[in-house]
Amino acid sequence: MSATNTTQSNDQASRTILLDKVTKHYPGQLKPAVDGLMLEIPAGKIVMLVGPSGCGKTTTLKMINRLIEPTSGRIMLGDEDVTDLDGDKLRRRMGYVIQAGGLFPHMTVAANIAIVPKMLGWSKDAISKRIDELLDLVSLDPALYRDRYPKELSGGQQQRVGVARALAAEPPVLLMDEPFGAVDPITRQRLQDELIRIQEEVQKTIVFVTHDFDEAVKLGDLIVIFGEDGQIVQYDSPERILAQPANDFVADFIGAGAGLKQLTLARVRDVQLADPVTASPGEKGADVLARVQQTNHDYVVITDGRGRPISWLSRRQLSRLDTIDKSKNPDLPLVAEGSTLNDALDAMLASRLGAALVTNRSKALVGMITFDIVMKSINQLRADVQTADDESPVGTNTGSPEVSEVPND
Ligand SMILES: Nc1ncnc2c1ncn2[C@@H]1O[C@H](COP(=O)(O)OP(=O)(O)O)[C@@H](O)[C@H]1O
Ligand SMILES: [Mg+2]
Repeated sequence: MSATNTTQSNDQASRTILLDKVTKHYPGQLKPAVDGLMLEIPAGKIVMLVGPSGCGKTTTLKMINRLIEPTSGRIMLGDEDVTDLDGDKLRRRMGYVIQAGGLFPHMTVAANIAIVPKMLGWSKDAISKRIDELLDLVSLDPALYRDRYPKELSGGQQQRVGVARALAAEPPVLLMDEPFGAVDPITRQRLQDELIRIQEEVQKTIVFVTHDFDEAVKLGDLIVIFGEDGQIVQYDSPERILAQPANDFVADFIGAGAGLKQLTLARVRDVQLADPVTASPGEKGADVLARVQQTNHDYVVITDGRGRPISWLSRRQLSRLDTIDKSKNPDLPLVAEGSTLNDALDAMLASRLGAALVTNRSKALVGMITFDIVMKSINQLRADVQTADDESPVGTNTGSPEVSEVPND
């Protein structure tokens, strides 16, 4: 790639981030917060930074968009040294998402999202169109949410707006600092699933800080594990970190359930789903029962006119029904195609049916996932990890005396 490439260039190489022996020494502090960090963040990937509190994650992120200036070292965005770029311009090319979205409380949702496009001089129409597009992207109905104020939103909704705002001017890079740290576990799971879906659409280079290892495994293409002193202990794919933790520190960090954690790596859409028997409201119970009896299934899924599951009946329930009605069971075990197998397993356990129904973006039924399917996938994942021999990414701390090995085989 030539050095004359413009700052607007959006090709792969221009979105790779390289931290080259970066050190940050805060005045008055005995030890540097970040010490000789070497790290390459590949374009279009989600790289998770995990590690104990105070190990320098936030400092690292803020040096990338120059909210904090490094004491020494270089940070490259593609072939540009970010310290040569104007800080404001740089930050327009790097969306930044923090806890609770960091929204301005006195501005509406629309005004919050419009901040950067306005600074860039976009036309009113273009901005308005973009706001609707982004709210759709983060699953908030523009008609309902455009004119609300942040305090009129739930924590999860604020976080969604924060993501929309960060994406407003189509930055090639997203920096996220524990964005989902302040929401309840169920909302967090939804926001994570949504980020995965959004990333499939937008393919940004994402640097995501978390102290939650499960979140790192779920979201990351790659994970950097920092030790207490901010040194990199391991930088690798989630699969390989789970299968081959670099040392006891990582093994402890991962915890005992490493086998099950591999389930957070695989998505429902990656496995071969089963086809449930389906029926519609208005059909005769006896007719449907006859249909079910010709299969080895014990249950039938009732779907509405748009293919969305509304209830899930056993043979016994069917035998007692004259006509199938439209009533909706609010407790159906439903999972999205983008959900992890771990989430699917949770849904199955909660349902006690040993299966969950899989729906697409329009909430229509696409299949069924069962325990057997999940078990097969676990075995497959184990086999895959053992034969994997892809290269480890680049990352070390040169400045630290206890430089750790990045595994390489
Ligand atoms: N503005 C600051 N001034 C002085 N020390 C700071 C400042 N910000 C962070 N630190 C120190 O730098 C270290 C790393 O902090 P931080 O990057 O916030 O870690 P993390 O995000 O991993 O919890 C900590 O020891 C912290 O106390
Ligand atoms: Mg932090």
